[in-house]
Amino acid sequence: AVTRTFSIIKPDATRRNLTGAVTAMLEGAGLRVVASKRIQMTRAMAEGFYAVHRERPFFNDLVAFMISGPVVVQVLEGEDAVARNRAIMGATNPANADEGTIRKVHAESIEANSVHGSDSDENAAIEIAYFFAQTEITG
Ligand code: CMP
Repeated sequence: AVTRTFSIIKPDATRRNLTGAVTAMLEGAGLRVVASKRIQMTRAMAEGFYAVHRERPFFNDLVAFMISGPVVVQVLEGEDAVARNRAIMGATNPANADEGTIRKVHAESIEANSVHGSDSDENAAIEIAYFFAQTEITG
């Protein structure tokens, strides 16, 4: 089925002027950008977005990293969008990511790993609604 997922191009990638390169890889994997905006997240926004990780040892560093520069938040649409996006992103740790994936090609570290993608349809809907109004999304 054609579904949607949520993506973030993270500060390590925007800093290196890789917004277009990363987006081209998403599009090349069969995903369509149906919403996109470049934002500077506040600490509160980043803490809320990653609330599921708040007890993890990397939480404070992760929040600091995610507010260290602009991010590009996107809604992606395509056949099985969540799985398709996870495949093109590659493993969280770039050291474990398959050849040709965004994280293998572009990520700097397990933290500065260039992209975020939703891990389920349910979380995709929650994450899309966290950043976008319905009026900002169009096929
Ligand atoms: P993301 O998919 O956005 O979800 C949580 C983020 O935490 C992850 O990508 C990484 O950027 C970051 N992170 C930092 N350290 C770790 C770790 N040890 N395990 C998982 N995620 C980590």
